[in-house]
Amino acid sequence: MDTERTTMTIRVGVIGAGIMGADHVRNLAGRIGGASVALVADLDAGRAAAAAGPAGARTTADPKALIKDPDVDAVVIASHDSTHAELILACLDARKPVLCEKPLAPTVEEGRAVVAAEEAMAAELGLSLVSLGFMRRFDPAHTELRRRLAAGELGEVLTAHCVSRNVRSAPDATDVSAITNSAIHELDSMPWLLGTDVAEAAWVSGRKASALAPAGLQDPAFMLLRMADGALVTLELFLNAQYGYSTRLEVVGERGTASFTEAPLLELSLDRRRAAEYPADWRPRFADAYRIELQAWIDSLRTAAPSPLASARDGLRASEIAAALAASIDAGGAFVPVVYE
Ligand SMILES: NC(=O)c1ccc[n+]([C@@H]2O[C@H](COP(=O)([O-])OP(=O)(O)OC[C@H]3O[C@@H](n4cnc5c(N)ncnc54)[C@H](O)[C@@H]3O)[C@@H](O)[C@H]2O)c1
Repeated sequence: MDTERTTMTIRVGVIGAGIMGADHVRNLAGRIGGASVALVADLDAGRAAAAAGPAGARTTADPKALIKDPDVDAVVIASHDSTHAELILACLDARKPVLCEKPLAPTVEEGRAVVAAEEAMAAELGLSLVSLGFMRRFDPAHTELRRRLAAGELGEVLTAHCVSRNVRSAPDATDVSAITNSAIHELDSMPWLLGTDVAEAAWVSGRKASALAPAGLQDPAFMLLRMADGALVTLELFLNAQYGYSTRLEVVGERGTASFTEAPLLELSLDRRRAAEYPADWRPRFADAYRIELQAWIDSLRTAAPSPLASARDGLRASEIAAALAASIDAGGAFVPVVYE
């Protein structure tokens, strides 16, 4: 690769200036080498201005204008899940690289349309333009665990237990959106960590749901993933847990177990008590992962190398598992086989 390319600055346009978009703007403007933020798009002008101001970026309310803007070399999509497929397709039309937040799309049908367009263009250009924000793949604890599992340190993996808790869900959260928006992280990370596909999936609810969850949302919900090699993964997803953000994992092998330690934000000793503080959301836990992921993406663009991030097809595979879980809700909690394209 020529020196000019490796020394260039990638001018990024960020669509969506909410929690994630504003975080990506801050990182790209201040912590990522070889990147700058040229333009921020949000339907909410105040949010766009608040995120763009410190980065010295322009703003627009029109995400398609951002994608076409000649001063934008690459695009980050951090707007609502329902916008992802359409905006990725617009990036492909403009032949611009895009890092889209998870999920690829809320439905398998939209995901398949994106993958078809994406893979056709990759065949033409010799390089894929679409990367997906499954940042756990860049979290140091996850990458270290994956290395050790691949080396066989725990022996054969028999089971794994995931717990994912948030303070509160979106007010319009449903059983299906809880899967496609939140559990989707585990649907990507568990096959990636364990090195085996999900063969079938079941969604099981207890008789009790939290009265603090929106009406109609079964919260917590339990999901079971039977892997192709026979291992069983459990996931408790509790979106209205109130007390703090918490994500846990224990992998159980024939010779031992591995789990992530939850580092508290702060440990307070006060009034003869010792208390550990939980973060209000996911950003502190995955701050390094977001930065490492963004830097890896920018580096790949600067060197015209393949993106090391999750691909559109990885996103589709997670959506296909999500579809099996949604079908299991309708099937009264029975295991449903995952149908991969
Ligand atoms: N990787 C992760 O860990 C992670 C964590 C949280 C959220 N996310 C994903 O990031 C995305 C954003 O989540 P968030 O928590 O920041 O949401 P948010 O509601 O805080 O922000 C979304 C923003 O997008 C804007 N928006 C919506 N539609 C738009 C459109 N068509 N054009 C321009 N702007 C539009 C909204 O006005 C809002 O400001 C979601 O897809 C979510 O699933 C990923």
